[in-house]
Amino acid sequence: MEQVTTHQAEDDARNEDILIYVDGVLVPRPQAQVSVYDSGFLLGDGVWEGLRLYNGRWAFLDEHLDRLFEAAKAIDLDIGRNRAQVAEALEETRAANDMATDVHARLMVTRGVKIRPFQHPSLSRSGPTFVIIMEHSRPSLPRPVRLATVPQVRGLPTSQDPKLNSHSKLNCVLACVAAEKAGADEALMLDVHGFVNTTNACNFFIVRKGEVWTSTGDYCMNGITRQKVIDLCRAHDIPVFERNYSLVDTYGADEAFLTGTFGAQTPVGEIDGRTIGDGHIGPVTKRLRGLYADLVARDTGAG
Ligand SMILES: Cc1ncc(COP(=O)(O)O)c(C=O)c1O
Repeated sequence: MEQVTTHQAEDDARNEDILIYVDGVLVPRPQAQVSVYDSGFLLGDGVWEGLRLYNGRWAFLDEHLDRLFEAAKAIDLDIGRNRAQVAEALEETRAANDMATDVHARLMVTRGVKIRPFQHPSLSRSGPTFVIIMEHSRPSLPRPVRLATVPQVRGLPTSQDPKLNSHSKLNCVLACVAAEKAGADEALMLDVHGFVNTTNACNFFIVRKGEVWTSTGDYCMNGITRQKVIDLCRAHDIPVFERNYSLVDTYGADEAFLTGTFGAQTPVGEIDGRTIGDGHIGPVTKRLRGLYADLVARDTGAG
């Protein structure tokens, strides 16, 4: 079976000609570059957000800005722009690319260009590097994804807090490599206690007897889509639990799905060679996908 990725989109030739926002300047894609002395390139020293545009509006923009500024504060990085200016940069890039809907933005801020190729933050003296890559993006997944559990765990906040959307994602990348070598599409990662936590790029949910379960929220990204799904369950009387659970509970689940800004709710068909439910998208996942699509439509003014 051909491999898929959880961030698979339809090919779109328009993406060859996009303009990329690099420190206030809109640059054609082939010329969009940052310095080899950039803190992001040298060290993965930066934070980012992934956002989606529907009907000309960024879904859950406030939540994304909250998380971006919180992360920047946590790593002691001055973004050099306030919330309104970050939103303006998004709008400027959107307008320059004449984009309206089904668009994905990766907004990245690093500690900027260093004067020497070493780690100390004081070597970054010229302000942050601020880049927005905005692409036409319509998710296209030919089948439910397959997961494999991997040796890489979601660590304690005392090493690299998994709540930081940091540029450095090596732990997650290695998890993904391990999953791929096991013949899966994405990695299912456990926490330090061995409970099921999240995947390398998305949050993870299971459905058991009509109940929706996800991890306690410790050790994983505080996903905006994750929270929206929990809120939707509560609003529609679908029992939802943030709790510890193991692989036994997971293999025996009726349904499993991932959440993330890109793919919304992505069905999982197989985990470690065990078929989940009947291997197809289940009724609760389907219902939550519909409820989430309605919520996005309302948030972006189309509902
Ligand atoms: C590791 C990880 N988990 C989950 C998510 C999903 O978060 P969100 O729903 O806010 O896109 C992301 C997205 O950046 C991520 O990097």
